[in-house]
Amino acid sequence: MSSKDNEQIEESKDKPAVVAGFDLDSVPSQAGRIAIVTGANTGLGYETTLQLAKKRMKVIMACRSLDKGRRALEEIQDKEKGADVEVMQLDLGMLESVKEFTRQFREKHGRLDLLINNAGVMWLSYVKTRDGFESHFQVNHLGHFLLTSELIDLMPDTPDSRVVTLSSVAHKMGLGRLRFEDLQWDKGYSRSKAYSQSKLANLMFAIELDRRLKSAGRNIRSVAAHPGYTETDLQRHSSPFGGWLMSKILAPFLAHPMADGAMPTLMAAYWSGAKGGDYFGPRDAWELKGAPGYAVKSDYAQNADAGRQLWEESEKLLGIRFKVDDPPLAIAGGGTQKAAGFLDKWCPFF
Ligand SMILES: NC(=O)c1ccc[n+]([C@@H]2O[C@H](COP(=O)([O-])OP(=O)(O)OC[C@H]3O[C@@H](n4cnc5c(N)ncnc54)[C@H](OP(=O)(O)O)[C@@H]3O)[C@@H](O)[C@H]2O)c1
Repeated sequence: MSSKDNEQIEESKDKPAVVAGFDLDSVPSQAGRIAIVTGANTGLGYETTLQLAKKRMKVIMACRSLDKGRRALEEIQDKEKGADVEVMQLDLGMLESVKEFTRQFREKHGRLDLLINNAGVMWLSYVKTRDGFESHFQVNHLGHFLLTSELIDLMPDTPDSRVVTLSSVAHKMGLGRLRFEDLQWDKGYSRSKAYSQSKLANLMFAIELDRRLKSAGRNIRSVAAHPGYTETDLQRHSSPFGGWLMSKILAPFLAHPMADGAMPTLMAAYWSGAKGGDYFGPRDAWELKGAPGYAVKSDYAQNADAGRQLWEESEKLLGIRFKVDDPPLAIAGGGTQKAAGFLDKWCPFF
């Protein structure tokens, strides 16, 4: 079901390998497969859903607002006749909603081939969710951790079964590590650092999930992706200055369109060469735009002790045990961190 193996891999001593020529056109029909995309009503989630639907994948659009989701669904069906898309309500900021979503999904569909943990918030003022967690940490990380945990046993044991989690170049900014001593930012809140930390948690989750899947002998691939700097409304919660700086000054030079921003996610979802633990992003302009390829993970993101600690903390906070070693369903078909660069210097604005 993955794209055909015509991609070239160039190796270099200094840079991670570059993947040239991942081509969406070469991806075969995905008819008969089912995907969930979180935050599918707008931005990258919308674009990703559209591209999956074009390949005849059935896509569940997991949206916080059913109204927004339905409007997006109608647009997608207008653009792509015969698109097999469905909206379901999911608020990652409410653990009960995550559980209800998975309950309904299990009942109705009972099988999952591709989970795209895409939804996210950025630069919120300090606010805790009703569950008592800092909002970036819950919506971006904990909600997806719980969602994946509740769905992983619905995934067939094949290399085409994928969990794709969205991170960001911001994972290298801010503190560059997780504040295990105060994950909920009870002290010294910074909206940019809280966002960066949640995106670091996303990447660490993807890598740790891969470790655990491999050690449990599972064939499902956990892959991470980031979209570089893509023109969406993600900065809508930022301060007026931050929003102005992003949309008027930086975006015209550094951002790329949504169709390009979604490519690393699609590569992670489709490319047959993608291995568990890989991380894809745009290759040009400090990974802000350009064609997709391998992206640079910080050393901290790859630290196995920190990955295990995040996993165990997340389980403790949610009061669950994330089981990757349940018997798979019997279903047929069955780098190193670069020195701080230009972007890190802009950190105060982000
Ligand atoms: N755009 C970029 O340059 C960029 C860069 C790096 C990483 N990313 C990552 O890419 C992903 C998508 O971002 P985007 O740029 O497409 O942002 P976006 O346009 O703001 O879309 C975010 C999506 O997440 C949904 N969402 C927010 N809170 C939610 C919640 N509590 N429960 C469920 N869904 C929720 C939003 O729903 P509503 O419409 O209801 O709010 C929306 O559908 C995020 O993970 C982001 O961190 C983006």
